[in-house]
Parts: sequence; C-alpha cells; structure tokens
Amino acid sequence: MPALMALRKRAQGEKPLAGAKIVGCTHITAQTAVLMETLSALGAQCRWAACNIYSTQNEVAAAVAEAGFSVFAWKGESEDDFWWCIEQCVHHDGWLPNMILDDGGDLTHWMYRRHPELFKLIKGIVEESVTGVHRLYQLSKAGKLCVPAMNVNDSVTKQKFDNLYSCRESILDGLKRTTDIMFGGKQVVVCGYGEVGKGSCAALKGLGAIVYVTEIDPICALQACMEGFRVVKLGEVIRHVDIIVTCTGNKNVVTREHLDRVKNSAIVCNMGHSNTEIDVASLRTPDLTWERVRSQVDHVIWPDGKRIILLAEGRLLNLSCSSVPSFVLSITATTQALALIELYNAPEGRYKQDVYLLPKKMDEYVASLHLPSFDGHLTELSDEQAKYLGINKNGPFKPNYYRSVIFCLWLGSTVNTFTAVNIDSFEAKLFYFVLNAMAFLVCVRL
Ligand SMILES: NC(=O)c1ccc[n+]([C@@H]2O[C@H](COP(=O)([O-])OP(=O)(O)OC[C@H]3O[C@@H](n4cnc5c(N)ncnc54)[C@H](O)[C@@H]3O)[C@@H](O)[C@H]2O)c1
Repeated sequence: MPALMALRKRAQGEKPLAGAKIVGCTHITAQTAVLMETLSALGAQCRWAACNIYSTQNEVAAAVAEAGFSVFAWKGESEDDFWWCIEQCVHHDGWLPNMILDDGGDLTHWMYRRHPELFKLIKGIVEESVTGVHRLYQLSKAGKLCVPAMNVNDSVTKQKFDNLYSCRESILDGLKRTTDIMFGGKQVVVCGYGEVGKGSCAALKGLGAIVYVTEIDPICALQACMEGFRVVKLGEVIRHVDIIVTCTGNKNVVTREHLDRVKNSAIVCNMGHSNTEIDVASLRTPDLTWERVRSQVDHVIWPDGKRIILLAEGRLLNLSCSSVPSFVLSITATTQALALIELYNAPEGRYKQDVYLLPKKMDEYVASLHLPSFDGHLTELSDEQAKYLGINKNGPFKPNYYRSVIFCLWLGSTVNTFTAVNIDSFEAKLFYFVLNAMAFLVCVRL
C-alpha cells in the first residue's frame, strides 16, 4: 500500500492526528490493519468494528488486537453480535471517540439512535460507501446532521478504483472460488450500471459471457448500450440467465417473484450494498429447503427440485468470498486518512454541519502518491499553458464535477464525426444539440 507508506514517511516527526480518537466501522482486512497502523503512526487512537458480518479476516483481527488496538469483530457474526461489537467500540471503558470512519452508515446511525450525546465530542464523520453517504445527505436535508461529514465515496480516486477497477478484478475471483464456473457463453444479468456495474460487466464480457444490464437511470442505461450490452427489464430475462448480479445500492432489486421464475442452477449474488439487494428473507419460507454446500454457498431448493445457488447469503460477493487487490485499497485508505486529517485539523468554521466532498486537490494528491508504483511521470504545465487553461500550475487540474475524460473525448469525437457530414436540416441540428447536451450530462455524471 504505497501511498499509506508515503504518508507515514512524510509525516515523520509530525502527528497530524495527535489527540484524535477514531472509531472505525469498515471491513477488517489486512489492508485495514495497515490503515489503522498508519493512523496510529500519525498520532491517533483507534477502535474498530466490522461493517460486514462475513468480511472480517480473523487472523488479521487477532494480529491487530495483539498489537494493542481494540477490535471487535470476527467472521460470521450474527446480527446481534454485529450490533454488540459496534456498541463495544463506541461506548465502553470510558473511551470516547472524537472522529468517525464509517462504511455503510451503521456505526453513525447506531450513535444517533443510542448515544446522541457523544456527537458533542465528534469533530467529523468520514463516510466510505454510497449508501452511508445517502443516509448522511438525508440527515443533512432533515437538518439533523450535527457535525461535518466528508463523503469520500464520491472522490474520483475512490469511485474509479474501489468501485470500478476493484470490482472488475474481484467479481470473477469471487464467482470462481465459490462455484468453479466457466464464463464463456453464460448469460448474465447485471442489475445497475454504475461504477460497480460497469466493472462487473466489463470483466464478465471479457471472459465471453453474454451480459444484460438493468437500469433505472437513462444515462447509465445509454452508456451500457454504447458498450454493447442489452438493456432489459429483469423480468424479461430472468427465465434464461445463468447468473444474476446486483450492483445498485438499492433494496429488493431481486425479489422472491423473480427467483420463483429463474432457471435451475442459476447463480444469484450481490456486488452492491450490504444484504439488501436480493430479498433473501423471502427465501426463508417452509416450502423452500436450504442446503449449505460449502462456505458461503447455499443451495435453495424449490418443492419441484429446482435449486438456485445463492452466494454469501446475498452479501457482498467479492468481500465475502474473494480477496480485493491491496493496491486499490491503498487508494481508498489513503483517501480516508487524508479526509480524517482534513476534518480533524480544519479551523473552526471551515466545515459546517453538512456533507462535503474531499477537496479536489487531495484527490489528485492521492493519485500522485500511487504513480511512482508504475514509474509514471507527470507532465508539468508551462506558465503559458496554465494561463491558457485558466488553472493553477500545481492543480487542482479539473473542476469538481469532472469525472472521466475518456468518455467525453469519445463522445466528442463521435459528435465531430457526425458534424463532418454536411447536414443542414433542423432535425439533424437538434440531434447534435441533444447529443452535446448528453455528452455534458454524462461527463458530469461520470
Ligand atoms: N463490492 C464492492 O467491493 C463494492 C465496492 C464499491 C461500492 N460497492 C457498493 O455497490 C453499490 C453500487 O455502487 P456504485 O458506485 O456502482 O453506485 P452507482 O450509484 O454508481 O450505481 C448504482 C446504479 O444502480 C442503478 N439502480 C438503482 N436502483 C436500481 C434498480 N432497482 N434496478 C436497476 N438499477 C438500479 C442506479 O441508477 C445506478 O446507476 C453501493 O451500494 C456501494 O456501496 C460495492
């Protein structure tokens, strides 16, 4: 995890987190251990619980505990254990947190419900996931957010690496380890074509699967079409697909009604949010039999003998059943560490009780810390070029809404190709206008 090491080196002697008492609720993996050690080297005290009942690496939790950190987590916690662990983390032994690092919002919401008085001490919340961020915005809208919060999920480095590239690498690993499936020619439906969906679709397509996409958002749906995926309603393809993958951040995307109609031996799994995307509770009825065939793999059997293969009981496939590349997690963890440092050290009044994006310059800094791993060398702007573009020579190099230059360049070139043809009709002009507007919207969305 090169950037965390670089942070430690750069902070040698300095302790930007001196006095910080960070309560964390994230996946407890080897990479989180490196983050905890880094935060500690930067001066913080840390106390941690797991944000997912299956993703804890027990050997890591044990090692971290042995190193003197308070960690409350083990693989295979029950729901009750999960909340017990969070409670131990937040409110025990007289230790009171002043910073929160959350992934999914469960810790934050537990504190809101059970220990609202603790927010008097909290200087800020750093939130990692789409769903957690969504909950924070809801709190903010309702006027109930009582401390500043940093949305690291929407920083570009996090979105592109953790959601897109990491899922692109780990979905296949998770499916192979649990089912030994061969992907060529298999029909797969991926629900949601956001970052996680894009990564998952690209990986599956790369191994020869026939991929269908479901979407609610016309822009993401159009992007899926442009990549050559058929955009369908789940009900249209549910009968003949071999694999169903959810990546929406939403709830009950795959329902009992859908699963009653899937074909025998279909694999059902989730790459999106927690355990909400597949309505697993609806499968726990007396008419269906559950058979555990190996760790994280259940056969759910219908009275007529039809069975589906449910992975990780509908929880995150890659985090429960495979490993996630450390390099990707280095980017995420560095973003989290910088957000914690920023909120903890911000002068009074810089951040109000609202949700903020990580400043663009820090996002660029996270990326720059990882470039040496590839022996990548940045081009420096000349004074003249910086003036021409109207930006500072040292960044930030892009406005906050900027996401992906590749897609915009691609759309731009498409527009240029079309406009090179001499068409004067009003309809054609309208078409190009709409196309440009779409390019702008997609650019903002990406
Ligand atoms: N497995 C992992 O390692 C991992 C990594 C990062 C994020 N995530 C999680 O994955 C989820 C998605 O993240 P993202 O970055 O792709 O978010 P995103 O917002 O970019 O994409 C989600 C997409 O799903 C679509 N959608 C919502 N409801 C839908 C429905 N009912 N049917 C079809 N499409 C629907 C949305 O329009 C959106 O395009 C989040 O819950 C996030 O926390 C998982």
